[in-house]
Amino acid sequence: MKKHLLATASVCALLCMSACSPSSPAPADPNQRSEASRERSVAFKTLGGDMKELGDVVQGNVAYDVEKFKAKVAEFVAHSEVPFQHMEQDANGANGLAKAEVWSNAAGFQAETEKFTQAVAALNAAAESGNLEQIKAAFGPVGGSCKSCHEGFKIPNP
Ligand code: HEC
Repeated sequence: MKKHLLATASVCALLCMSACSPSSPAPADPNQRSEASRERSVAFKTLGGDMKELGDVVQGNVAYDVEKFKAKVAEFVAHSEVPFQHMEQDANGANGLAKAEVWSNAAGFQAETEKFTQAVAALNAAAESGNLEQIKAAFGPVGGSCKSCHEGFKIPNP
């Protein structure tokens, strides 16, 4: 009797599962982004924080200290690679703020990634030179490449 009840219960569970699960994938819910998207999000937010700190020095809100700035840029260089290690597409479309174009236009996304990597390398070289004018000149293109990639590949933050 107990066995029978259990069997009935599990058949019920199976039926219910198939009856309740949607036939098409649920639309992307930004609160239910994929694991990869959450990793990207954290990594991109770190870049946002880095840019703010570096920008404070470039804009003269914080005094320029050659060694501190070099160290901060070195951290930024390391952080700048992290989001791109988590670019897997979610099978259910839970890709957070990443537009479908990240994958449908992979070559375009790659080009933006390279532009960004080059801008970051140039900022690093400028930081190593210890010349604030060079740093200022190299900082703009970094911010520009964040923006340029976002225009094509990121859904605006809600
Ligand atoms: C090559 C493309 C590309 C570059 C370069 C890029 N981003 Fe993004 N960024 C994205 C994509 C795609 C997302 C959406 C990720 C997701 O939600 O899965 C994103 C998301 C973000 C987010 C939102 C995170 C969240 O979930 O709220 C921030 C903040 C951000 N990026 C900052 C930056 C900063 C700062 C830079 C430059 C230093 C930068 N990004 C450079 C493509 C890029």
